[in-house]
Amino acid sequence: MAKTITLYVCSACGSRSPALLGRCPRCGGWGTMEAQPAGGEAARRAAADVQQLGEIGETALLRRSTGVDEVDRVLGGGWVAGAVLLLAGEPGIGKSTLLLQLAHRSVMAGWATLYVAGEESLAQVKLRAERLAVSPGLSLTRETDARTLAEHLREKRPSLVIIDSIQTLIAEEGVPGSLTQVRDATAILTQAAKESGSTLVLIGHITKQGMIAGPKVIEHVVDTTLALETASGFRVLRAMKNRFGPAGEVGVFEMTGMGMTAVANPSEAFLAERPKGVPGSVVVAALEGQRPLLLEVQALAAKSPYAAPRRIVQGLDARRVDVVLAVLERRLELPLAGLDVYVNVAGGLRLTDPGADLAVALAVYSAVTNRPVPEGTAVVGEVGLAGEVRSVTQLPRRAAEAQRANYPRLIGPRGGPDAALVITSLADALRVTWGG
Ligand code: TYD
Ligand code: MG
Repeated sequence: MAKTITLYVCSACGSRSPALLGRCPRCGGWGTMEAQPAGGEAARRAAADVQQLGEIGETALLRRSTGVDEVDRVLGGGWVAGAVLLLAGEPGIGKSTLLLQLAHRSVMAGWATLYVAGEESLAQVKLRAERLAVSPGLSLTRETDARTLAEHLREKRPSLVIIDSIQTLIAEEGVPGSLTQVRDATAILTQAAKESGSTLVLIGHITKQGMIAGPKVIEHVVDTTLALETASGFRVLRAMKNRFGPAGEVGVFEMTGMGMTAVANPSEAFLAERPKGVPGSVVVAALEGQRPLLLEVQALAAKSPYAAPRRIVQGLDARRVDVVLAVLERRLELPLAGLDVYVNVAGGLRLTDPGADLAVALAVYSAVTNRPVPEGTAVVGEVGLAGEVRSVTQLPRRAAEAQRANYPRLIGPRGGPDAALVITSLADALRVTWGG
């Protein structure tokens, strides 16, 4: 017997969906999706529903602001109805604090919001909530049974549900936190969120050593993975994966006595402790996601006691750094043999931007030759194997940020503003940086 597939149709606009959604994805009506009467449209749909691209209507994502610009930026606009997000980070970094603050914003905007406190007693949560001046209208529960929670979602259709944390959820008999519990509980809640139209945020603990039971096994299930990390004493929120927006976007926060506050000028914040006039320190006009950000690249070179000198890299792609070192040795005859070389992004930030190559090259050159880079200089550029400096994306915006953060002397490839110092090779870069 052929399996009958139930089809849900919006009573307001007629849009169709194979799943029962709490809110119509086309017209935004709540509770308007209804099952098609059996024998009608539904029965005929036993065949695959194939449409041409041009026939598919605009399904604008139901997005609402989180109330915090810095978080909206990372998410690509705000919460998406029915989306499932994972917030991963080390214990104590501020996951519960940030989400309690976002829960507050959600309540204030008039959205039903549920906070599942699996980790702490309600009294503990209340204590923190008072400190953060969270609205008394926030719903809380200590329920950690995934099926019971899923039932609640289907019935009450809260707009935002925060699970603190996935490691405390239970899907079947057994110990919470095991891989199967985490995976199954996530699957149950994901299904419920898709049906109720709730935005579901899952908190997941990870350790420095890597992932403990949890985050890794659900990464492919969730729509968005956010990581909360520390850098220079700040908290950096980063979208590692995002089905509903750009990945790689960062938001910068500071943990204060009143919770997490957005940092207005991250470039200045990250460069605040930069030593002046010290060899091996170079400011890069980087781009993280769509955001221009000035960061310090540091290098140190020291005589190696080892037969095979060490290359220790932090915050940058070690293979890219190796290539830059090889180019320095072969194209600029910089003697690196016998030297241990350390390269890092100051403050512990991670940088994936290939435009950091030139900063790495100049930092190492500066460290080896013991010549500091003149103050007020920022650099950017990708370095090729021939020692050429290649263009980077969004150069005008990087230049504008450098100007704003008081690094008016920008050295980089073509494509920047007229005032920038244009170079085409590493040799060029050395001449422009130090003259001669
Ligand atoms: P928390 O959000 O509990 O971290 P996580 O959920 O990631 O484990 O934050 C823990 C730290 O934050 C804790 O050391 C106390 C500190 N904190 C503040 O500095 N200010 C605040 O307003 C709050 C609520 C916490
Ligand atoms: Mg916590």
